[in-house]
Amino acid sequence: MITALDHIAIAVPDLENSIKRFMDDFDLDYEGSEEVADAKTITAFFPVPATSIELVHPLNDEGPIAGFLEKKGGGLHHLCFRSDDIEADIGRLKAKGYQFLSDAPYPGAHNSRVIFIHPKSCDGVLIELNQPGDDH
Ligand code: CO
Repeated sequence: MITALDHIAIAVPDLENSIKRFMDDFDLDYEGSEEVADAKTITAFFPVPATSIELVHPLNDEGPIAGFLEKKGGGLHHLCFRSDDIEADIGRLKAKGYQFLSDAPYPGAHNSRVIFIHPKSCDGVLIELNQPGDDH
């Protein structure tokens, strides 16, 4: 079951600069940064009750965000729905014909398990499903 809008992600070409903007200019609480090797990204989270802004930047200049920045220079990247049973949600959506960007969930930030629905299954919007880890 989907339980919340977990975060909205913005791809950023200069992570330090964007962290400063959200911290100092917008006065949001900076939760910290994390390198997510499986996603080839480094992320920074700013919780805004009941969701978060996620800044997402390429790790080692490679991965899907590097390609996105090269094409678009930055911008709104994806919506993320929180799930309390990601396997059940994937199964239900696959049965309805939804396509996913990977065969199975993989590790995301905060020790979560994540999977992305193909944008062509959702009117051009990239949507992530995220089941939080036990420690979050
Ligand atoms: Co995300």
